[in-house]
Amino acid sequence: MSIIHGLGVVVTAFAIITRPGKASDSPLSLDVTMSADSPQTATISCSLNPSLTPMKTLDELSIYGSKSNSKKTKNDFQILASVDRWNANPQIFGALARSAVVVSGSYGFETNSSELTISLKSPSWSSSGHRYKCAARGTHHNGDMVTISETAKIDTTTPQYSALAQKVDLLSANVKKGLTNLEDRLSALEDRVNTDALIRNSTFGHFQQAVDNFAQTSEDKFQSLRDALDNARDEFSNLEYTVNKLKMGQGLLTQGIILLNAEKYFELSLVHKDTVYGASKTAETFDILKANRRCRRFKGYLAEINDSDELNFVANFLRNLSSNDLFFVGGKNSQRDGQFRFYHSWKPMPNGLWSPTQSKSDRNDLGCVKIDPQEATLTAVSCDGHHVKYICEIPIPTQ
Ligand SMILES: *[C@@H]1O[C@H](CO)[C@@H](O)[C@H](O)[C@H]1NC(C)=O
Ligand SMILES: *[C@@H]1O[C@H](CO)[C@@H](O)[C@H](O)[C@H]1NC(C)=O
Ligand SMILES: *[C@@H]1O[C@H](CO)[C@@H](O)[C@H](O)[C@H]1NC(C)=O
Ligand SMILES: *[C@@H]1O[C@H](CO)[C@@H](O)[C@H](O)[C@H]1NC(C)=O
Repeated sequence: MSIIHGLGVVVTAFAIITRPGKASDSPLSLDVTMSADSPQTATISCSLNPSLTPMKTLDELSIYGSKSNSKKTKNDFQILASVDRWNANPQIFGALARSAVVVSGSYGFETNSSELTISLKSPSWSSSGHRYKCAARGTHHNGDMVTISETAKIDTTTPQYSALAQKVDLLSANVKKGLTNLEDRLSALEDRVNTDALIRNSTFGHFQQAVDNFAQTSEDKFQSLRDALDNARDEFSNLEYTVNKLKMGQGLLTQGIILLNAEKYFELSLVHKDTVYGASKTAETFDILKANRRCRRFKGYLAEINDSDELNFVANFLRNLSSNDLFFVGGKNSQRDGQFRFYHSWKPMPNGLWSPTQSKSDRNDLGCVKIDPQEATLTAVSCDGHHVKYICEIPIPTQ
């Protein structure tokens, strides 16, 4: 009784496996596996499931290989290895003797399965269409001798494998090459990046140095400019000061010359609050317009007594002159509003400087103002009928 099943071919990325079509009732299973590495290893594995076998006893489990690419003769199978009930160690036969082969196997029956596996490196005899057969020989329950077998074929797997393996090898080589290239390029890139960084650093360094220098130079120049401006401002300020001094000197000089000339006509006081007072030297009929004009010739005007301090100074000055003449100042009774005003500025005269011996109504009909040196007071007098002297007030230029 012989059971032969059809074959299926399964190809995965790295292995080509040829196994029998699934027949769960088959007591024998035969697997042929080709490894994907190089050199190739063919693993032929056969096992017997005792629960499915019609055999009472198993005598021998063997693996056969077909001699060539022949499908015609059943008899071109050659025994490669076997394991039997008398020798648990698997045996290798002629065709494999010189090949690199690993064989393993175990014999068992009733409860244990029997297995036989051979691994062949570079099976040169294995080529397209090469077939393998697993056979189990034993005794049927009825006492007859029985052999069951399973056949597997490597159907065009070797060239397929070879092509694939080559592709895989090529791919792997390319990948390796690519990786190496990639590594080289990464390394080059790294060098480049470092070099670039160096250049960038030095470029940046130069740039920064230039910027720093520029900033420093600018700062220096700016500072110089600022110093120069400060100096210029100082010098200008000094110059302005000098000019002002000169102007003042010039003013003083001018005024001095004026005063020098004025001394022909006036007795001059000391300077009091930037003012010099001049008392006319000659007594004459008083004409307020003429008198003020004379004062103005010397950059002054008829004296305007603002307060008691000024009044005291002028009175003191006149006392020093030891003169008995009347001295008029620049006051005039305004006919229009009935109050005394300074002739030059036309401001109302202060009230507190009048002599207490004269009432306001007493002054009403009187037009001019004299100064009493002894009392240091002012008194209203008639403008007419007097030979009088008068007082000029001459401001001294300060700035
Ligand atoms: C066979 O199977 C039995 C149990 O089912 C186990 O004890 C025994 O060790 C097995 N023998 C071998 C050779 O595997
Ligand atoms: C560039 O300069 C930075 C900062 O000074 C430094 O950390 C880095 O190492 C430099 N790179 C190179 C390539 O000199
Ligand atoms: C008197 O007052 C006027 C204005 O109020 C002023 O211009 C003048 O300088 C003063 N005279 C003196 C000597 O203070
Ligand atoms: C008056 O004379 C005295 C003494 O000579 C002098 O100290 C004083 O300054 C003089 N007063 C005036 C206003 O000229």
